Amino acid sequence: MTVHFVGAGPGAPDLLTLRGRDIIAASPVCLYAGSLVPEAVLGHCPEGARIVNTAPLSLDQIMEVIAEAHEAGQDVVRLHSGDLSVYSAMGEQLRRLRELGIPYTVTPGVPAFAAAAAALGSELTLPGLAQSVVLTRTPGRASAMPEGETLENFAATGATLCIHLSIHNLENTVAQLAPAYGADCPVAVVWRATWPEQRIVRGTLGTIEALVAGSMERTALILVGPALAGEGFEESCLYATDYDRRFRPQTAESVYADSKE
Ligand SMILES: C[S@@+](CC[C@H](N)C(=O)[O-])C[C@H]1O[C@@H](n2cnc3c(N)ncnc32)[C@H](O)[C@@H]1O
Repeated sequence: MTVHFVGAGPGAPDLLTLRGRDIIAASPVCLYAGSLVPEAVLGHCPEGARIVNTAPLSLDQIMEVIAEAHEAGQDVVRLHSGDLSVYSAMGEQLRRLRELGIPYTVTPGVPAFAAAAAALGSELTLPGLAQSVVLTRTPGRASAMPEGETLENFAATGATLCIHLSIHNLENTVAQLAPAYGADCPVAVVWRATWPEQRIVRGTLGTIEALVAGSMERTALILVGPALAGEGFEESCLYATDYDRRFRPQTAESVYADSKE
């Protein structure tokens, strides 16, 4: 018996890895974070699977369901939205499983920030504008931010920020970012990326609050940074005609000319 953690992606049921889909289809027990994983994803479960929404359960109760399946020798698939490496609460479950000696696997998923960037048709790293992406959030009722991980500090880098779990806190978010990025800095808010009702609002730090006007809650990502303009950047050297590189030597004398790799 194994507990398989699978990143369920941003919402669309066809935005899972093939491995994730196959694991879901082969698992007789499915635990899913119902607050974020849409029911459509559960369509990959086999007929007769025991499907448990963990949204109303405590960690102890979740572990009880897993322990029951363990005793019955039944594999469990544990679905969390997006990818498991950020804001998934996987870490605390893995720690319990290690204590109990229950084996597990981890299969990545498409994270919300990547789905939002795709919905916007944006590359978040553009030469000369931004070469780093910060995945962050603002403090919530249940989670304080570690000292130093402030929006002001991240803004000082000029990187592209992908701010999770914060649409209810848009006013503060804007107030903390505007001094470093300026009121003209582009912002996009993507609500329910890849869901049928997906919505995108584009603006600047100066206009975004009025444009959103409280019309979105919960499953929205706030993206901020100059790269979101999609203009004013340099072309990468990678495809420049005169750029000598291993895969495209420019002359017979190039150090890469005889490269076999
Ligand atoms: C608990 S976190 C889960 C993040 C997830 N593990 C990931 O890899 O994206 C939930 C937050 O992620 C963002 N999010 C998740 N799914 C989203 C979607 N489909 N569209 C926009 N934002 C989403 C929102 O900011 C939401 O408040």
